[in-house]
Amino acid sequence: MSDLLREATARLAAAGVDNPRLDARVLWEAVGGDAERFESFIARRAAREPVAYITGWKEFWSLSFAVAPGILIPRPDTETIIDAVLADYPDRSAPLNILDLGTGSGCILAALLSEYPNAHGLGIDSSEIAQNVAAGNLERLGLGARGAVRAGNWAEKLDTAFDIVVSNPPYIPTADIADLEPDVRDFEPSAALDGGPDGLDAVRILAPELKKLGGVGYIEIGVGQDEAAAAIFTKAGLAVLRVARDLGGVPRIVIVRAKKELE
Ligand SMILES: C[S@@+](CC[C@H](N)C(=O)[O-])C[C@H]1O[C@@H](n2cnc3c(N)ncnc32)[C@H](O)[C@@H]1O
Repeated sequence: MSDLLREATARLAAAGVDNPRLDARVLWEAVGGDAERFESFIARRAAREPVAYITGWKEFWSLSFAVAPGILIPRPDTETIIDAVLADYPDRSAPLNILDLGTGSGCILAALLSEYPNAHGLGIDSSEIAQNVAAGNLERLGLGARGAVRAGNWAEKLDTAFDIVVSNPPYIPTADIADLEPDVRDFEPSAALDGGPDGLDAVRILAPELKKLGGVGYIEIGVGQDEAAAAIFTKAGLAVLRVARDLGGVPRIVIVRAKKELE
């Protein structure tokens, strides 16, 4: 086994994989001792397919999410949204009504529903595969009765009021996509990555929708987008309450409120 691991690690390192030893170990654990399957997993990883697509799972907020090609792999930075909501709503028994726009794997909605046992939520995504995978994740995590998933173009056609609107929209400027690691660029869905010329196309759509929906919005942004995003939200008539930083200190979540008089 250690020879297999050593060889696999060397192969992944030669392919330019960032953490070859860790990835080889994770893939070894995933195959349950099946050397043939391990060989096929290592070949896929050496072709830069992300570990999460190979194993079919990714952890987020200490919960396990099924992922598949066509679904963005949940990122630790996005946990900043959960931290920010928990800080703002310390009463865990609050019957919050939560909307998650661009729900993907459903990770944000599921994490919030797991923290607020009396909360309900709706996840929306334009991708059919995301709708299916998110609904499956909520169900498997025992949250299906409180979390629904629907097809939709952001909040178009929604007229319900929500207490909290969360979103991790695509925010990578189109021209930067070619420079991403092949693991991301060649495998993750462009609809989950491409934010248009300056990365803020989705923010421009979401801003008036948040204004219409009410509640407090928690919107993830890319590196260096905080001031431009805040300006778009302000122009749309929202109050920017604060910007939460991720664990690396990067301004990551813009927190906005639709009704200034509630500040
Ligand atoms: C960056 S991913 C976030 C996924 C998940 N919320 C997460 O944080 O891991 C953005 C998601 O927005 C979805 N999306 C893109 N355009 C959309 C649109 N017009 N309406 C609804 N969802 C959209 C994508 O399919 C993708 O699932």
